[in-house]
Amino acid sequence: MSLNVIILAAGQGKRMNSKLPKVLQPIAGMPMLGHVVEAGRALSAERMVVVYGHGGEQVKAAFARQPDIRWAHQAEQLGTGHAVAQALPDCSEGVALILYGDCPLITASTLQTLLAAAGDNKLAVLTAVMDNPTGYGRMVRDSAGQIVRIVEQKDASDAEKAIREINTGFIAAPLTYLREWLPRLKNANAQGEYYLTDVIAMAVENGVAVTGVIAADVWEPAGVNDKRQLAELERVYQRRQADKLLAGGVTLLDPSRFDLRGTVEHGQDVEIDVNVILEGKIKFGNGVKIGPNVYLKNATLGDGVVVKANTVIEDSIVGAGSDLGPFARIRPDSVLGEKVHIGNFVEIKKATLGNGTKAGHLSYLGDAVIGERVNISAGVITCNYDGANKFVTTIGDDAFIGTDSQLVAPVTIADRAYIGAGSTITKDAPADALTVCRAREQKSLLGWKKPQKITKA
Ligand code: UD1
Ligand code: CA
Repeated sequence: MSLNVIILAAGQGKRMNSKLPKVLQPIAGMPMLGHVVEAGRALSAERMVVVYGHGGEQVKAAFARQPDIRWAHQAEQLGTGHAVAQALPDCSEGVALILYGDCPLITASTLQTLLAAAGDNKLAVLTAVMDNPTGYGRMVRDSAGQIVRIVEQKDASDAEKAIREINTGFIAAPLTYLREWLPRLKNANAQGEYYLTDVIAMAVENGVAVTGVIAADVWEPAGVNDKRQLAELERVYQRRQADKLLAGGVTLLDPSRFDLRGTVEHGQDVEIDVNVILEGKIKFGNGVKIGPNVYLKNATLGDGVVVKANTVIEDSIVGAGSDLGPFARIRPDSVLGEKVHIGNFVEIKKATLGNGTKAGHLSYLGDAVIGERVNISAGVITCNYDGANKFVTTIGDDAFIGTDSQLVAPVTIADRAYIGAGSTITKDAPADALTVCRAREQKSLLGWKKPQKITKA
């Protein structure tokens, strides 16, 4: 039986007070609509149709590289039933599953339960039981407990308003029925809208079974209308991810102060301190330790890597046994070998550092190819930019670069070269020699007088 996922995403989301359309507002760095699309993909839907309206071009552009999505335009928001009707021409046969672009926490496993309840000839509605059901459509059941219809808050009697079982909006229904019933919806209700929920009463009238599935987790079907709810769901989502990592053996010193905006693959005994943000694709080997306030984006860290407090690593690879920080910054396209040591206030950009190389303090290493066991002393700078172009600095194995030296690229320091402290190196330095370039003599002016502070009259 083929599955057609229909995602409603035409609403404006005025209460967001934002130029960004509501369904593009992110949860864990990904648009809410993206999370819903992923849930649809996880169900191996044959077709996925997004009903869009407000901010349509912007929404479509954000998903331009996802060609499995079909787009159905709803020019005017005349109600959820009208919205679903716009998607029908893009659907094949089989079952339709209605999802919402602003309900990002729904999981594929809950949707699978809903689909199983619907089978190929029933309607299934995901419901939830709430202490305060205000605002939601209520599930009206008969004395035998069978669902008979859904009544919207604005159309409900006082007795119906007292019902605590609500419609989450997630509905699975055979397409043949929807094709028959949606054109027959009326908008004679308090909101003047074509309600999708009215198909429930139509099913009952036509002798089609309706089953309810009660959501086990009330957060799953939760929708977002404003930034407060967005922030709330962000925390729920982050907690879920943290729990998955904890279950996989990762130590999180405080799961409530951990953010993952992407994916992480990890070995055993990884330890993560508080306020760590992981973005994009992260890979950790065994025994990796991440200190507090660390930001990592698209980073691969080998076994036993230790990242100390306040370090930033982006689009880079760090070899096993290396340690970085505190306060180190590794910019994109850097590849650090094994047992590399990077200390505080060291910036590395588009550089390769061989095994065992050390840069302990206050350096800038950009556009550099650096060998193994090189010692980069405090304050060393690769001068990679002449104001117009960038050039490469090459340093051989076992070289020693003295404190406060500038290497003016393009320049090559040979294996085992030794650069004296305070040198400005503009020409290649040979192997096995001391190269120094600084003011030759040290002078002391005897009888020199310290400047005096001028006192104003
Ligand atoms: C809807 C349900 C209600 C349920 C609630 C759960 C109906 C009639 N009511 O009410 O029973 O308890 O959701 O949150 O279905 N949308 C469109 N086009 C439209 C109208 C809506 O795309 O013409 C989209 C909205 O962007 C939104 C979703 O459908 O994502 C729900 O619409 P909304 O107007 O918020 O419905 P509710 O009144 O909350
Ligand atoms: Ca709503």
